[in-house]
Amino acid sequence: MYRSTFVQDGRLFQRFYTADRATVDACVSCHVKYQGPGIKIGDILGIRRFDIPFADDIALGKEILNADLAEYRQAEKIFSMTLQAVKSGGQYPLDLKLQKMGFLEKIADRQVQGKIDEIQQRFASFTRAVEDLASGEVGSSGHR
Ligand code: HEC
Repeated sequence: MYRSTFVQDGRLFQRFYTADRATVDACVSCHVKYQGPGIKIGDILGIRRFDIPFADDIALGKEILNADLAEYRQAEKIFSMTLQAVKSGGQYPLDLKLQKMGFLEKIADRQVQGKIDEIQQRFASFTRAVEDLASGEVGSSGHR
């Protein structure tokens, strides 16, 4: 599938091209009537173009389509470093740019440690979900 964007009447559109294949016998049996024999299941009968309005706000629409994960990645790092510091003791960031560091002693309490493990597991599955989302092509089922 090929995808592009364009602007028309002050709106942002997405344009998709997909191969239109003869997926079922009905396509074949009708198409041989006016195109002649030689068409079989799986053949590309044409290319379809879909123009879909994506956003009324062009700048915002472009931002959504080219989402940048820099801020998220920074926050992810800060969160996991802080969690690690609470779990085992150590340095954790005090500012968003990771320039100043604070220090925490390990929290020995068993219940707290159990809760931290739970948070780490959930955070890991959250992170995986974000990566799936970020690597999914726009319009793909993963992305949706
Ligand atoms: C009942 C008959 C019939 C069936 C069933 C049928 N088509 Fe068609 N198809 C046509 C006709 C007639 C045209 C128009 C041809 C033209 O205008 O040159 C057409 C045109 C097309 C075109 C555009 C071709 C071009 O060059 O512009 C594509 C692609 C296409 N059909 C794919 C399919 C697919 C895929 C299926 C099955 C899912 C299918 N068709 C089922 C009759 C049918």
